[in-house]
Amino acid sequence: MRLSVQKLVCVIILLSAIICTITLNKDPYYEDLKKIVNITFTEGFLRKEPCGCLEGCLAATEDEWFKNRFRDDIPPLLSLGNSELPDNITNWWQHLQGTKTKTEYKQAIEELFKVIPKEGHYRDAGPDRCRTCAVVGNSGNLLESHYGPLIDNNDFVIRMNKGPVEGFEDDVGSKTTHRIMYPESAVHLDNTTHLVLLPFKLLDIEWVTSALTTGRIKKTRFKVIDKLQANKDKVMVMHPTFMHYVHTTWLHIKARRSYPSTGFLALMFGLHICDEVNVFGFGADSRGTWYHYFEGLPKRFRGTGKHSGGLETTAIKELTKRNIITVYKGW
Ligand code: C5P
Repeated sequence: MRLSVQKLVCVIILLSAIICTITLNKDPYYEDLKKIVNITFTEGFLRKEPCGCLEGCLAATEDEWFKNRFRDDIPPLLSLGNSELPDNITNWWQHLQGTKTKTEYKQAIEELFKVIPKEGHYRDAGPDRCRTCAVVGNSGNLLESHYGPLIDNNDFVIRMNKGPVEGFEDDVGSKTTHRIMYPESAVHLDNTTHLVLLPFKLLDIEWVTSALTTGRIKKTRFKVIDKLQANKDKVMVMHPTFMHYVHTTWLHIKARRSYPSTGFLALMFGLHICDEVNVFGFGADSRGTWYHYFEGLPKRFRGTGKHSGGLETTAIKELTKRNIITVYKGW
């Protein structure tokens, strides 16, 4: 169990007060000391710490570059109460992969929340929370990393798409609390894992409702899993407004019909629901080769791949340089 900073300070002050009472109760300065202890003690209770982590956390950072971008008022996940989209978001999101109307969106949301939990999640940052996240991408740089125990040591382990655990435990760990995926990348889940759906189109929202109930939708861009094994009560959907915020505020992309990668959205999700973020399995390996850890090293050098370089890599480097996240790159 983690001890929050506030609780630790209170314990120290209490102990000091007891020691003072025993050793100094005849001292002329005793009354003044008692006042100071009382004031500090009360202040400790009243002051609202940004988080409960002993070694600081995201919310406590003084970094202006980060603070200018980080918007904790934007909900990362959809709930029944926050699902309305402003026009600019509708225009961006509803045109990413096909065009749908606001009425169709409203209907899809109503159907969705008949199946999955309606309420918001993870809006619980504050003095009592010190939540660590491992965001685990699918890079081949995980192979022979022996990061497994380090990954599993986090409160939340967020994996993505088809990245498997079985057979790779030593390098990728065995715990999965969240799996971020979209219909075309979906895999069946166990009863304890949260599915976090990335909706790149309205049909994706309609698919998750269908895949958890009737299995009516069998094809999106191509044939997809129609009946998904997953715990309905643990299913969440990333908010289109959050995806737009990541696209525009973090990547400064104005272009329509383009959007961030699964990995970058997962990293940003971690940044908004955790107090400490550790990133694994992102980028090429030490030879500059881009591949998935579960597919093995390609026979031919395939370059650094479509995910290397560019605005996402620059943003990840900046976050690392400013000690906002820790990136584990393998050896
Ligand atoms: O390939 P896939 O989209 O399933 O990978 C999930 C995420 O893992 C990517 O969006 C990317 O951020 C990260 N990845 C990577 N380098 C690789 C493979 C995946 O950074 N070689």
